[in-house]
Amino acid sequence: MEEIVTKALSLRIEALEALSHVQDEKGLEEFYVQYLAKKGLIPGLMTLMREAQDKAAFGAAVNSARTDVTAKYEEKKQVLAKAKLEAKLASERIDLTLPGQPCLPGRVNPYRLVIDEVVDLFLDMGYEVCEGRDVETDKFNFELLNVPKDHPSRDMQDTFYFGDDYLLRTQTSAAQAHKMLEMERKRPIRMIAPGKAYRRDDDDMTHSHQFAQIEGLVVDKGISLAHLKATLELFAKKMFGEKREIRLRSSYFPFTEPSVEVDVSCFNCGGKGCAMCKGTGWIEILGAGMVNPRVLEACGYDPEEYSGFAFGVGVERVAMLRYGIDDIRRIYQNDFRFLKPFSIK
Ligand code: DAH
Repeated sequence: MEEIVTKALSLRIEALEALSHVQDEKGLEEFYVQYLAKKGLIPGLMTLMREAQDKAAFGAAVNSARTDVTAKYEEKKQVLAKAKLEAKLASERIDLTLPGQPCLPGRVNPYRLVIDEVVDLFLDMGYEVCEGRDVETDKFNFELLNVPKDHPSRDMQDTFYFGDDYLLRTQTSAAQAHKMLEMERKRPIRMIAPGKAYRRDDDDMTHSHQFAQIEGLVVDKGISLAHLKATLELFAKKMFGEKREIRLRSSYFPFTEPSVEVDVSCFNCGGKGCAMCKGTGWIEILGAGMVNPRVLEACGYDPEEYSGFAFGVGVERVAMLRYGIDDIRRIYQNDFRFLKPFSIK
């Protein structure tokens, strides 16, 4: 092969070798000037054309050197541009992911714990849970429960009124009347109704203008005080411990007859007498009684055929007794330091 053709071929090899060592854009630029620019080595070969004997072979060698090296040069150019962009993106990357606040596991308010446990207990006994409503009518909150307009017990249950008829319910007992009237064909009832109640009250360590109650109502043929007692005994044991006993003291509520206050034997001293039970050995936990026949009748049940019992328990009171909470306001303040020990069992 003619020497001059060999020269073209080896210049091509030399250029490709040089290109493979190029590391950056500056190096590529220098490479271009040296080999491919107008006055570069490869175009410069053409000036030797005159010397070539086999011009076709020489021309072909020069052309293939130029196209080949140019193609490889373009390729490299792209690789370097891409690498440069990537380096830039990497160096300018903004990390938007600040280390977050640690997410503390939530707690269950003791008030909720009590409601959930009571609901569980009564669901197991075949009761249904009724929602009731916070805004009630005078009729359901009072009248149907045997508390007519002039009844003195209304004094203790003042509340917010919206017009003459609507009010924030003062007791979950209103749910009793709803349930009885709602039952078609007067079927038996076993229900509990947890919810809020509202009353004018001094807000202090044991009172709040808003609090929660759980109402219970059973209506059927042949329901007696013995059923009530057995049911509440179960309730007391579940909430305050297996060894607890209850006692019923005669009392008065307009919607029950007879009415009772229910005490549980003191879970602090076991009944011997201590500061918690004020030396009596007993702690009052709820009000209850046999549904007043007048209430049954007003709500569409024949008191000759049906009887029932009802009870109403203050949720905060149970929570305070159970967990030794000294101030009812703690239950509403959502202070994590207070809530911390409480969780779902
Ligand atoms: N509603 C009564 C109150 O808020 C509590 C109560 C007492 C409910 C006796 C009852 C009951 O169902 O039978 O003070």
